[in-house]
Amino acid sequence: MQMEELLSVVTVGHVDHGKSTVIGRMLADAGALPDGKLEAIKENCKRNSKPFEYAFLLDALKNEQAQGITIDTARCFFQTEKRRYIIIDAPGHIEFLKNMVTGASRAEAALLVIDASRGVEENTRRHGYFLSMLGIRQVAVLVNKMDLVGYKQSVYDDIKDEYEKFLKKINIVPKTFIPVSGMEGDNIAFKSENMPWYEGLTVLQQMDEFNTIPAPENMPFRMPVQGVYKFTGSNDSRRIIAGTVDAGKVRAGDQLVFYPSGKKTAVKTLEVFNAETPTEFTAENAAGFTMTEEIFVKRGEIACLASEEAPQVGVRMKVNLFWLGKENLKLNKTYFLKCGTAKVEMRLESVERVVNASDLSCISRQYVEKNEVAECILKLDRPIAFDLAGTIEATSRFVIVDDYEIAGGGIITEAMKDDAYDNKNIRWSGDAMTEGERARLLGNSGLVVWMTGLSGSGKTTTAQEVERRLVAQGIPAYVLDGDKLRRGLNHDLGFSDEDRKENIRRTTEVAKMFKDAGIVTFVTLISPFAEAREAARAEIGNNFMEVYVKADIETCKQRDPKKLYEKALKGEIKSFTGIDSPYEVPKNPDLLLDTELWSEEECAEALFSAVLSKVKR
Ligand code: ADX
Repeated sequence: MQMEELLSVVTVGHVDHGKSTVIGRMLADAGALPDGKLEAIKENCKRNSKPFEYAFLLDALKNEQAQGITIDTARCFFQTEKRRYIIIDAPGHIEFLKNMVTGASRAEAALLVIDASRGVEENTRRHGYFLSMLGIRQVAVLVNKMDLVGYKQSVYDDIKDEYEKFLKKINIVPKTFIPVSGMEGDNIAFKSENMPWYEGLTVLQQMDEFNTIPAPENMPFRMPVQGVYKFTGSNDSRRIIAGTVDAGKVRAGDQLVFYPSGKKTAVKTLEVFNAETPTEFTAENAAGFTMTEEIFVKRGEIACLASEEAPQVGVRMKVNLFWLGKENLKLNKTYFLKCGTAKVEMRLESVERVVNASDLSCISRQYVEKNEVAECILKLDRPIAFDLAGTIEATSRFVIVDDYEIAGGGIITEAMKDDAYDNKNIRWSGDAMTEGERARLLGNSGLVVWMTGLSGSGKTTTAQEVERRLVAQGIPAYVLDGDKLRRGLNHDLGFSDEDRKENIRRTTEVAKMFKDAGIVTFVTLISPFAEAREAARAEIGNNFMEVYVKADIETCKQRDPKKLYEKALKGEIKSFTGIDSPYEVPKNPDLLLDTELWSEEECAEALFSAVLSKVKR
């Protein structure tokens, strides 16, 4: 039987909790042992007047290589009908942690063994934390020695509740809990008759349920750029981007994005040295390609496909690292971090916790000693592209260089926000800025505040006051005043209905652009016609508010700051709004400023706070 699929499962738990017994029992009951082996071992025990235990199986089988089962000190290979397995015991922790955290070995799932007769102890919690450090997300918790507690459901339930709560805190959601007895064989390969209350899977069934991590070629394309090579032959002006593919596939014609720069191009041709050109490059291939558009990219960037999930880009990250350095890893010192082909200066920002690798106890302090594992936050000098542990392996791993030597390594578990960087970071895009992008960078969005009301109602006065307050807060604001516009842009227009509509149409266009530029734009036009105001609202779209500056005609006549009502009443000005030309009062303004009831200060304050709540991000 040739089975390609291989799943590596790590077993954790205290020796006394029966881990070896569970594994031994699983091998025996899965029929994975060589013929006659079990009997031979039992016989041997008898001869030495020792009671047989399944825990002996592993020792007895060490270094055997027969019929699909191999056991060495820490690993044991076996297979079920579904697939092959490597069971990794986590001995001594240090080597294993080091290998896992530096990516030298990997486990895709875990069996965690708890002794039902002892319940959740400090050790059990440490083992849970150990799995979380390794980034293992698929965990089955085996509540072992159920025979010692009379197969009681209540004992199992209590342990399950307590441990589940703890695991949740460290971000592990176990796939399942299984009540078992390694000694008696309950729920290992065969469903237990002693625990009819348990309806879930046996351990062996659960093993087959675990998912394998997809092979690198089935993941999104990642190729850290090793270098850019230029051919200088007389008819050859190719520039070739070269590197080793870490994951995914790439073909000619594929749209590419390089991170962290965000530069875009497409693959023109695949290039190989002295060999036939393949149709695609896939994981682990040394690859080279030319581009349709010659863009400038540097070593350290990661080439990705535009159609696939983008990597993380940033300057701050949470990591689990293993420290090997002679000198402690400490704050306020500059190191180099290497990830993919990127090499950047880095500092240790903080240590979340340090784990003693041999007994897995946690210590809280701000440095890391040799042979310790720690959860830390790192801060880089400039942005790099990376992936998170549990997704694409190669690009989620890093090493730290101290004084020209590799002094540590680990996996990136989280991309962290960095205010200074997040606000300033601009990736090359070549596209027009979106409103959202502009608002993020400016810290505010644009807005059109359409102020309507009779001449002399106080539109411009109120707008100018609020304009000043906004600008004082760093929010760009500008008043597009009717009188000013009529002197310039709209100097050809009079006060006929048609001209007033055209006046509003043109002003609408200008206001819209001001708003797109991120400016809080006050339009102070009488704009007497409801239809024209609605047209403005429709044209401008989002971030529009209509403000009715209310003062009735009698009040305005009395105020008459420009003595225009006087002239209009005498007939010296024709078609004057409110005298011989209509004003349609807004039925549903977004804000009403009653200048007859409120002081100028109160009107300004009301407008200011309404605007601020709309534009501030
Ligand atoms: S709108 O009706 O087209 O919106 P707009 O606000 O641009 O009018 O212009 C109004 C200003 O133009 C008034 O504040 C006033 O100073 C001046 N004006 C001159 N003639 C008239 C008029 N016939 N009607 C209204 N305002 C006039």
